[in-house]
Amino acid sequence: MVNHQLFLYSTFSMIILFICWSWTTASELEQIINNNDNTNKSKIKVDVYYETLCPDSIQFLLRQLVPNYDRIKDKADLRLYPFGKAQFFESGNSYEFYCQHGPKECRGNMIHCCVLHQNSYDVSLPFIKCMEKELYGLRRPDVDFVAQKCANWTNIDWKHVDDCTTTNLGKQLLVDAGRKTKAVKPKITFIPTIILDEKYSERIQDQALYGDFVKLIENHYNKKNEHETK
Ligand SMILES: *[C@@H]1O[C@H](CO)[C@@H](O)[C@H](O)[C@H]1NC(C)=O
Ligand SMILES: *[C@@H]1O[C@H](CO)[C@@H](O)[C@H](O)[C@H]1NC(C)=O
Repeated sequence: MVNHQLFLYSTFSMIILFICWSWTTASELEQIINNNDNTNKSKIKVDVYYETLCPDSIQFLLRQLVPNYDRIKDKADLRLYPFGKAQFFESGNSYEFYCQHGPKECRGNMIHCCVLHQNSYDVSLPFIKCMEKELYGLRRPDVDFVAQKCANWTNIDWKHVDDCTTTNLGKQLLVDAGRKTKAVKPKITFIPTIILDEKYSERIQDQALYGDFVKLIENHYNKKNEHETK
């Protein structure tokens, strides 16, 4: 009786072991094939035009972009433009900015410009997520306090960022984001706007904001690389 049980038990374990083993080899193999496949494939450009205090932008960043970034980053060349419906004017040899949600938004946009300029997207996105999450729904946000707190939490050198925002570099980066935003055709009317490979489409915009963002990127990526794999 005991022997019989032992036999059953060891047979069962062997089967489980075999299943686990073949499972790993299959997925490892798949990974190797996929990696080789990706070497010469072209990423798609994903341009995101947003502003830091806009509830629609915050929802896109927190629900669609940031949580899925790891799943799309080897297929997408992401660029964030934190400017939105702001205006800039040359004044002397400097610039003045006016933002849809007031001066605090201009400050927030410039902080994002500086963080993105000084760090990779892998480092910047957790900071941006933290900031947007903290700012969401606040009627009188203390942008600097939130930014400093988030820099502390995400290991970003706040002094370095703050220095950028108080020199011409910060202004120049914000102007660059503004020029990019204003150059989009057709003219941007809704913030955030998401554009793939520099071609605006209402269908893409809707899917990026409210649909399956990962699937959108994957479909475009596959379509773009179709001819290269055949
Ligand atoms: C990738 O492209 C380079 C240059 O065009 C070529 O030399 C190389 O063989 C390609 N690699 C694969 C895996 O297709
Ligand atoms: C961030 O960290 C610095 C240095 O540790 C500290 O002085 C500052 O109070 C912190 N700021 C916030 C808002 O947490």
